[in-house]
Amino acid sequence: MKLVVTGGSGFIGSHFVREILATRKGWRVLNVDLLTYAGRGRNLADLARHPRYRFARADIASAAIAPLLARERPDAVVNFAAESHVDRSIHGAAPFLRTNALGAQNLLDAARAARVARFVQVSTDEVYGSIPGRARAREDAPLQPSSAYSASKAAADLLALAARRTHGQDVVITRCTNNYGPWQFPEKLIPLMITNALANQPLPVYGDGLQRRDWIHARDHCRGVLAALERGRAGEIYNFGAGTEPPNLRIIQEILRILGKSAALIRYVADRPGHDRRYAVDAAKARRELGWRPAIALDDGLEETVRWYREHPAWWLRLKDAAFRAFYRKNYGNWATGKTGR
Ligand code: NAD
Ligand code: TYD
Repeated sequence: MKLVVTGGSGFIGSHFVREILATRKGWRVLNVDLLTYAGRGRNLADLARHPRYRFARADIASAAIAPLLARERPDAVVNFAAESHVDRSIHGAAPFLRTNALGAQNLLDAARAARVARFVQVSTDEVYGSIPGRARAREDAPLQPSSAYSASKAAADLLALAARRTHGQDVVITRCTNNYGPWQFPEKLIPLMITNALANQPLPVYGDGLQRRDWIHARDHCRGVLAALERGRAGEIYNFGAGTEPPNLRIIQEILRILGKSAALIRYVADRPGHDRRYAVDAAKARRELGWRPAIALDDGLEETVRWYREHPAWWLRLKDAAFRAFYRKNYGNWATGKTGR
């Protein structure tokens, strides 16, 4: 099996590449990644000499992709590459449309031209928008994205389904809930809170902090994507979720407890515009058809994750560079008044 994984230098993609190389003997992986701010290559530095791993720096939205896939002729393409942070999409939507929507179409076209047998589009439960009450979104729930990030991901899903209908292309779509774990860029909730707390810096909580997310460990998500690649039905969508939905504040308090830090670090800041209150999916189809279920309990996964960040300060300290600090100032603005820079 020859696999092209896009976005393999990012958070979840790097877990996926490791999972493949560790559990699928004989499979070869070409990681195609642009190495944006979110994927600086170091996540997979230890694999540089792995005999079944290769890397190519390329933009999935560029003309380089068609010849690359034509040369490589992989059996499957798994598309993780994306602009992935909701807050950044509020400040500027263009890179989200370019990579997440145009990039997905460009990859779909190139994969079809190279007769790639299967295309897995890694999507998100955020395409369903905020889910009220106790409901859980099934795969046929309406698409109601709230941000340019989730709208651009929904566009990619629709383009993949259109390629299925128009060209009979073999595509499978996965929609997972919020991931956490080692190697996550420190702009997302869990790694931001851990790294700020480690540095005794304030922890910015949007609004009342009672928004709910279904946190799942990235390794559980990756096992789901692998199951969809191997056993998913063409043209189908599979939700993945762990069924947990703690409010953000509870996650933050747990991180502070594990680190032995004070709740005085918590700062309530102005809410994110268009902030989805709750995400929740029904993952019964993935359980039934793929035999998938998450294996890592949130308490255990969070302990492991906090420990990993505590033990790898060199990794995340270099990511909190001048460009990160500029984004941080723009996004969080004036702490004292709780105003944001938006
Ligand atoms: P990430 O931001 O950590 O990594 C994205 C990777 O894509 C980076 O390595 C980056 O360099 C690469 N990339 C960006 N633009 C590119 C381009 N034009 N061409 C090639 N490579 C490019 O993201 P992540 O959190 O690992 O998310 C991976 C995928 O999973 C995304 O598609 C995201 O929508 C989806 N997803 C994420 C979550 C989550 O909680 N993080 C949940 C569900 C689904
Ligand atoms: P995030 O990790 O950005 O993921 P998403 O917006 O894709 O769900 O945010 C997770 C939750 O944490 C979300 O409700 C927003 C909230 N949040 C904060 O309260 N403060 C922050 O600084 C960040 C980054 C997120």
